[in-house]
Amino acid sequence: MTVQHTMSEELDLRLNQLVAEQESIFVGLQPRSRALRERAERYLAGGVTSSWQITTPQAIWMSLGVGSRIVDVDGNEYVDLHGGYGAGLAGHAHPAIVEAVRTQVARGTHFAQPTETAIEVAAELARRFGLPLWRFTNSGTEATMDAIHLMRAFTGRDLIIKVEGCYHGHHDSVQVSVMPDPPENGPADAPVGVLSSTGIPESIASQTLIVGYNDLDVLRRVLEAHEGQVAGMIIEPIMMNAGIITPEDGYLAGVKALLHAHGALLTFDEVKTGLTAGPSGAIGRVGVVPDLVCLAKAIGGGIASAAVGGSQEVMGFVAEGGYEMVGTFNGNPMAMAATKAMLTEVLTDETYRRLDALSLHAVEGITGTIEEYGLDAHVVSVGAKGCVVFQNEPVRDYRGFVGLDDRFNHAHWLLQLNGGVFLPPWGKMEQWLISAQHNEVDIDRLLHNFTSLARALTA
Ligand SMILES: Cc1ncc(COP(=O)(O)O)c(C=O)c1O
Repeated sequence: MTVQHTMSEELDLRLNQLVAEQESIFVGLQPRSRALRERAERYLAGGVTSSWQITTPQAIWMSLGVGSRIVDVDGNEYVDLHGGYGAGLAGHAHPAIVEAVRTQVARGTHFAQPTETAIEVAAELARRFGLPLWRFTNSGTEATMDAIHLMRAFTGRDLIIKVEGCYHGHHDSVQVSVMPDPPENGPADAPVGVLSSTGIPESIASQTLIVGYNDLDVLRRVLEAHEGQVAGMIIEPIMMNAGIITPEDGYLAGVKALLHAHGALLTFDEVKTGLTAGPSGAIGRVGVVPDLVCLAKAIGGGIASAAVGGSQEVMGFVAEGGYEMVGTFNGNPMAMAATKAMLTEVLTDETYRRLDALSLHAVEGITGTIEEYGLDAHVVSVGAKGCVVFQNEPVRDYRGFVGLDDRFNHAHWLLQLNGGVFLPPWGKMEQWLISAQHNEVDIDRLLHNFTSLARALTA
């Protein structure tokens, strides 16, 4: 029996009822979060500190994180597999991060001058990612913005190429076709750029050319149609803002070869995959080294820290003053101390072995339940990250993803949350993140709740 494809009226009804029931349990468990939201709305625009904290039915206000667990203001404890949108690879209050930050706070938190730790961090990143020269920023958005500026400055060209459905932060050039609604995004063999945020000039869309993921033919055509005008392409080498979509064999090597053949550069946005996909991120997994790589989220062990790494030639252009990569807090000593601890003490070979074992446990457990209950679903996992896709067929690009019924993911999220597991909200878009401090008992709770979902969908 397949569940989603047939999507009988009965299942449709059951799904809606399940969401309604679970939302009401959810609200009942969080009276103080509700009260705080009402108070917050007087002072915080929209009652939150980032628009993506406005979850349905309400934002969950947190009070504490320890190890693999997080506690909300109502005293509910959750296994934290949200991981702060993928930043929490160390887990909470990891002793190595606490010690590094404590020591640095007492020695001064900001000088706007380099400190020796920055050299150690850059050397370790160079070793892991195979790119020799590095700079630091404070967020993924700043990192991808600098990478795009640098590609333009280095090549003296304006146009960039971006993949439909990839998210690279909230600066203008990449706020195109992040989550475009069909049919506004045009045909698959000639995707149309659609602005993804208000406040961005329409003219920006014409500087950002859109291609599909896993599609070398469209990329070739776009490069040929704009010969000599494309500065470079930015891509999540493994897409992680549309569930998880992996590259087909040879795709990323093909992208690099095509770009270089047209005098354009390649930037990997590894803000999500860097360090979570493995010790050397997606670069280590696929064996393709780009001209530039952007890292953020997990690298700082929970402290804001981000980096841009690149080849001698391209980052050498920064060294020569060809592009000024600047920022008051760049290479901030506290961020550097936390990043160094993350790289050298938290993310050891032993940690990656444990992450792989826990990940396998999650994948096998959920897959077993999918088979037992005959759900139309499958699991995708890369390193410490994973998600359930509620259809049998693998997804190869954004167009294969956009039509998935989000109610399955919302119901799953609610059941996990009410059952003590905090997954990222935003339904089908996000993934779980297993941290260095999770254990089998934590994953067993994820599996138990998933079985409750399967039972509820097939009862
Ligand atoms: C792939 C990717 N790039 C860039 C960003 C932007 O990072 P930040 O939120 O730190 O600005 C994100 C954020 O989710 C991301 O997923």
